[in-house]
Amino acid sequence: MNYTTLGDTGLKVSVAGLGCGGNSRLGMRAGKTESESVRLVKVAYDLGVTLFDTAESYKTAPIVGKALKEYDRQTFAISTKCNIGGANSPRNGSDVVKKLEDGLNELQTDYVDILHMHGVHPTRYEQVMQDILPALEKAKTDGKVKFLGITETSPNDPTHEMLMRAVDDQVWSVVMLGYNMMNQTAREKLFPNILNKKIGTLLMFVVRNIFSQPEYLRKTIKQLANEGKVSDAMAKKDNPLDFLIHDSGAKSLTDAAYRFVRHEPGVDVVLFGTGTEEHLRENINSINGGPLPADDIERLHRIFGGLVGIGFDLPDKGSSIGVIK
Ligand SMILES: NC(=O)c1ccc[n+]([C@@H]2O[C@H](COP(=O)([O-])OP(=O)(O)OC[C@H]3O[C@@H](n4cnc5c(N)ncnc54)[C@H](OP(=O)(O)O)[C@@H]3O)[C@@H](O)[C@H]2O)c1
Repeated sequence: MNYTTLGDTGLKVSVAGLGCGGNSRLGMRAGKTESESVRLVKVAYDLGVTLFDTAESYKTAPIVGKALKEYDRQTFAISTKCNIGGANSPRNGSDVVKKLEDGLNELQTDYVDILHMHGVHPTRYEQVMQDILPALEKAKTDGKVKFLGITETSPNDPTHEMLMRAVDDQVWSVVMLGYNMMNQTAREKLFPNILNKKIGTLLMFVVRNIFSQPEYLRKTIKQLANEGKVSDAMAKKDNPLDFLIHDSGAKSLTDAAYRFVRHEPGVDVVLFGTGTEEHLRENINSINGGPLPADDIERLHRIFGGLVGIGFDLPDKGSSIGVIK
């Protein structure tokens, strides 16, 4: 396992971070038992994963707590989130602190390493800064939180409007953003400033549905071809991205997806979500693998560099075809 430092936090974590939400939710969606999911988290830890990302809304914090309680707390980092987007989301700082404290109980720990404001729409950002931030700063002083983070709502904000503002405010030590082979908007819009400000990054939507469900990828490419955004020749292929898979390139589409994002300057940790031990091992290998060949990267930039919103699906939803920026 390779390790990196998250921005300028000084927090050293594995480059592969276990996503305990997404569509898999540690296998809960596929009907795994709690003890099977606990085992998956332990296997990840044994393979060197030291960053675990959960959230109030995933309902996986108790699993993470059970799995990690026997290990030295100094040897892993927990990232969690308080939902800011939904109807029942907190309106003020004391609501957030109450949710944080509930989360600490579930996680069986005294502190979290990163507390994110989860899925903040651009229209809610100002309210977070005014009504919630002071309580977050206090939770930090009280030792319940080490670093503050914020995540965008990629399906509703695919051009990173909220995060472009947040990285300038110098209060968020870590940000979570969507970035993948067919949605590269962060390369121009976010990563240069993130590097300047030395902010830590956690990537989401790297594989999601589009690179794990071949039929969905084919459908998306066909639709993009109909809109004149990719070639008809590509749309006729059974595996439209087969050019990435060759002896000196990627082993599979998911391997390509994880290796493509991992080596982008500005990327610290790649979150991956899975419910199976086989995928867990594969993904850790991919995220620790070398960059894709330069020709393949250049081709991905050229073909897909102008697309926006591809692969940013709401949980358990079908395709959301994006727009050209
Ligand atoms: N802040 C936010 O709003 C937000 C939003 C989305 C995600 N996240 C975070 O990011 C994490 C990652 O989520 P994501 O949805 O972006 O996950 P992802 O890693 O991009 O994709 C996971 C999907 O791909 C499948 N998969 C994983 N490895 C595979 C492999 N080697 N071969 C074939 N299929 C594979 C998984 O199913 P299997 O179970 O079958 O492996 C799952 O359906 C989440 O767990 C969460 O922590 C945060």
